[in-house]
Amino acid sequence: MSDYKKQLLNKIENKQHIIGIIGLGYVGLPLALEFVHKGIKTIGFDIDETKIPVLNSGKSYIKHIASERITDAVNSGLFEATSSFERLPEVDAVIIAVPTPLNKHREPDLSYVENSAKMAAKYLRPGQLVVLESSTYPGTTDEILLPLMQKAGKNSVSGEDYKVGEDFFLAFSPEREDPNNPNYNTATIPKVVGGVTPACLEISVAVYNQIIVKTVPVSSPRAAEATKLLENIYRAVNIALVNELKMVFDKMDIDVWEVIDAAATKPFGLLLFIPVGLGGHCIPIDPFTSPGKPGSMM
Ligand SMILES: NC(=O)c1ccc[n+]([C@@H]2O[C@H](COP(=O)([O-])OP(=O)(O)OC[C@H]3O[C@@H](n4cnc5c(N)ncnc54)[C@H](O)[C@@H]3O)[C@@H](O)[C@H]2O)c1
Repeated sequence: MSDYKKQLLNKIENKQHIIGIIGLGYVGLPLALEFVHKGIKTIGFDIDETKIPVLNSGKSYIKHIASERITDAVNSGLFEATSSFERLPEVDAVIIAVPTPLNKHREPDLSYVENSAKMAAKYLRPGQLVVLESSTYPGTTDEILLPLMQKAGKNSVSGEDYKVGEDFFLAFSPEREDPNNPNYNTATIPKVVGGVTPACLEISVAVYNQIIVKTVPVSSPRAAEATKLLENIYRAVNIALVNELKMVFDKMDIDVWEVIDAAATKPFGLLLFIPVGLGGHCIPIDPFTSPGKPGSMM
């Protein structure tokens, strides 16, 4: 076992590790609060300087996240927000949760992910874990993050580029946040994790196991990236289908709700969606993502 792996696992086990989250939005902020809630020190990094004083004064800027939760986190002394990225070496695990919008050609705009990854690489300290959570096409972690981290420094003994799984650890874990869903929150949604090496997987699973009801290890970051793609494409296609059927049935003077209720009695082979519009702000982006091609995100 590499020394860094042993040290990091030991720190995690004793909750002496510090989490760094890049991107304090709908995904990053509740994630940070969850670590703090479990007694783990967490530093949030964001380029949006307007959010930092708001969060550090114990206020929320997201409607469904109560200010009380932020106040408690700040008062516990376990949470602070900053835009000083030079503080990244203070943390043991860097989790990236920045946006992946589409550009005007409906192609993925990976600039946010690239910029944060460059920042993580610039300040990479040997022994750190880096996890990407932003929705993206299969291959992003291997093709974009891995080379940046490898080139971030040299092994002190061999003099060679940093080696993944030994000098640093890298994984992808897709976010499944469903903002404002009263039935599920960050802690109760199982989390898929794919590490570049077995050591990367073991460490990232150990990190998430402390805050999430269940982690689901998969064989690689690509498998984890593809899992997210499947989930959101499935959802987008089925929501679109039922929306189309509503329009058709309306024209045919058939009550779509009556049909849905009747169809819902089938005990197998049917998972129903209801016609409410293209759910969530991620879903309308997804259909443009195609595996293997930087197509778009969710
Ligand atoms: N919101 C959801 O329900 C949801 C669900 C599943 C997956 N996702 C995915 O999670 C990722 C994050 O989404 P979100 O909804 O939290 O986005 P968001 O826009 O709410 O928050 C992103 C935050 O990142 C910050 N940021 C941007 N560039 C940065 C940089 N270089 N360094 C530091 N901070 C930076 C922004 O200022 C913002 O505060 C996206 O890939 C999204 O597709 C979101």
